[in-house]
Amino acid sequence: MNNQVGLKYQGSKFETFLKYTNEKENSSVVLGKILRKFIDKDGISFLDVGSGNGEFLRLSLNRIKSLKGAEVTLLEPNGDLIRQLRLNVKNFPSDATVKIVHSTFDDFVTDSRFNIILTSHPPFRRNELSQVFLRMLNLLEPNGRLVVVLRKKDDVHKFRTTFKAELLKDKSYQSLTIDDAIETFNELAKIKPLRISTFIANSELHLPIAYNMEDAISIIEFFLNKDWEEIPQDIRKAVLSFVSKKNGVFHLTDCIALIEKYE
Ligand SMILES: C[S@@+](CC[C@H](N)C(=O)[O-])C[C@H]1O[C@@H](n2cnc3c(N)ncnc32)[C@H](O)[C@@H]1O
Repeated sequence: MNNQVGLKYQGSKFETFLKYTNEKENSSVVLGKILRKFIDKDGISFLDVGSGNGEFLRLSLNRIKSLKGAEVTLLEPNGDLIRQLRLNVKNFPSDATVKIVHSTFDDFVTDSRFNIILTSHPPFRRNELSQVFLRMLNLLEPNGRLVVVLRKKDDVHKFRTTFKAELLKDKSYQSLTIDDAIETFNELAKIKPLRISTFIANSELHLPIAYNMEDAISIIEFFLNKDWEEIPQDIRKAVLSFVSKKNGVFHLTDCIALIEKYE
């Protein structure tokens, strides 16, 4: 993964996005159910790659009855989000030990192996998926599980694909979806025994176009990874027209892919 990808836009703008969506609540219900099935022994080791403010994992773990002896490592490269994480870990289940590591995944050095690795909405590039996922699989204990959360082709995907293609002047640009991850795992399954299953969580984003344009613009900047001032006038107009045609409401579909490594 490129060290700097997304770092600029993943801090406060990500938090603004969270204020207007129930995505984390809805997806954490589904992830909680998945985790509940296989957190079946004490002392599970867990790595979350690109934790953000930690809210998604916190909500998911709160749905597990016992996390006795669990060791949770939260890996996050963004300084603003690290500050939020430090506050948020106080609300993690008290039977788990939580460690925060301020680093990108590329720079993360560890001798540990993990029972579960989660990566939810990380800003991977398509051409590095194979290398990143292979490294994650290698960091798993035998019979470990990797959980990857990415969008299906929902409204955010459509929005990003339309306007990033214009900004990049590249008509072939497609924002990353879970299909790209699944395709990569199907390839990796040819060299490693993997079982792949998927689960869906639907939610909504309500862009506050009628009452808080500043926040709406922040969310647009977060999706497009660009400052509003840097976006050409004609694209800004098209963006606002896209958003107002939807009355500011985006339908979001998370897909949670569970990759089980059996040896
Ligand atoms: C869209 S946020 C998702 C946060 C959280 N996982 C969630 O689903 O709510 C993506 C996160 O990946 C982090 N990130 C960006 N580049 C990274 C890298 N190279 N290695 C690890 N994490 C990275 C960002 O700082 C950000 O917190």
